[in-house]
Amino acid sequence: YSFFLCFSQQNSKNAQGLVGLRNLGNTCFMNSILQCLSNTHDLRDYCLRNCHRGDLGGNCRAKAALMEEFAKLTQTLWTSASNEAISPSDFKTQIQKYAPRFMGYNQQDAQEFLRFLLDGLHNEVNRVTVRPRGPAEDLDHLPDDEKGKRMWSRYIEREDSKVVDLFVGQLKSSLTCNECGFCSTVFDPFWDLSLPIPKKSSGEVSLIDCIRLFTKEDVLDGDEKPTCQKCKSRRKCTKKFTIQKFPKILVLRILSSATCPAPRPPPNFPASAESQPLSNAVYSLYAVSNHSGTTLGGHYTAYCRNPALGEWYSYNDSRVSPMSSSQVRSSDAYVLFYELATSSRM
Ligand SMILES: *[C@@H]1O[C@H](CO)[C@@H](O)[C@H](O)[C@H]1NC(C)=O
Ligand SMILES: *[C@@H]1O[C@H](CO)[C@@H](O)[C@H](O)[C@H]1NC(C)=O
Repeated sequence: YSFFLCFSQQNSKNAQGLVGLRNLGNTCFMNSILQCLSNTHDLRDYCLRNCHRGDLGGNCRAKAALMEEFAKLTQTLWTSASNEAISPSDFKTQIQKYAPRFMGYNQQDAQEFLRFLLDGLHNEVNRVTVRPRGPAEDLDHLPDDEKGKRMWSRYIEREDSKVVDLFVGQLKSSLTCNECGFCSTVFDPFWDLSLPIPKKSSGEVSLIDCIRLFTKEDVLDGDEKPTCQKCKSRRKCTKKFTIQKFPKILVLRILSSATCPAPRPPPNFPASAESQPLSNAVYSLYAVSNHSGTTLGGHYTAYCRNPALGEWYSYNDSRVSPMSSSQVRSSDAYVLFYELATSSRM
């Protein structure tokens, strides 16, 4: 067991985690995400301490091949004696077994890759071995916050892992009938949020603008009219999203278009929503997956704040080079990784 490994690493003066990943064809999308995850402090430590082995439950190691390979790769990135780039080919063999769409060496969408990878890792280290059975109790009579809590418990009774601890939050969507005022709410877990970019007549679009647009009330009318549960007929309704439970790691995907350039990533922003008193909490940016060029022929890089050194580095496949935080702020972004810093806990 390499339990002591990470402690000795942290004491070491040598910079660690600054190892590039070889491109195996057009696999920069994979390299970019792997570097963002390697710089995700808690996930890195989970791998360095081999904690995943304690979470395999009924799975034997052979059945957790993706997690094993991911942990091995992370360990290599953080313990490698030289800073020479390494090949992620053993890892790639496992991810394509889990998700055959990653077979071959073509360019793929980095965010989609992240979703499949986190899902695969979660399934292998899910602490739940027997899912509860029986019909789900009706929660509609409960106040919203209580319903949200119960829905979350129901989710955790089935999906409970280190990956869920870190990345999953809960989204509330409410639909209010403009006719009778009846409001129905639904709570869903989310692994990341895809943010559309608002059209702005002047000035730069900020990330906060994107979040505001995402959580703004939206009127559903005409062909989009939903059926009101109370009126039992199709009505004009107001729809709204709220973040009910903030994840520890918030992954934001920016839905950029040719006409709207992606917003600059702010170094931090407050975590707040009506239903959660988190006024002291802020999210701080620690990793970015950047996409340049066209959708099909583009190139992915990553910039990450090294959790041990606190400094930013740019990862362009095999090459790792230092960069300033002001460069990060002035650059475009595709997938943003934010960590929740709760001031009351510090
Ligand atoms: C990020 O991507 C943009 C294109 O979207 C590109 O112009 C820029 O050079 C990239 N930045 C870095 C630091 O890789
Ligand atoms: C990444 O490296 C390639 C090859 O050296 C270079 O052409 C490209 O400009 C680099 N991209 C970024 C965003 O730094």
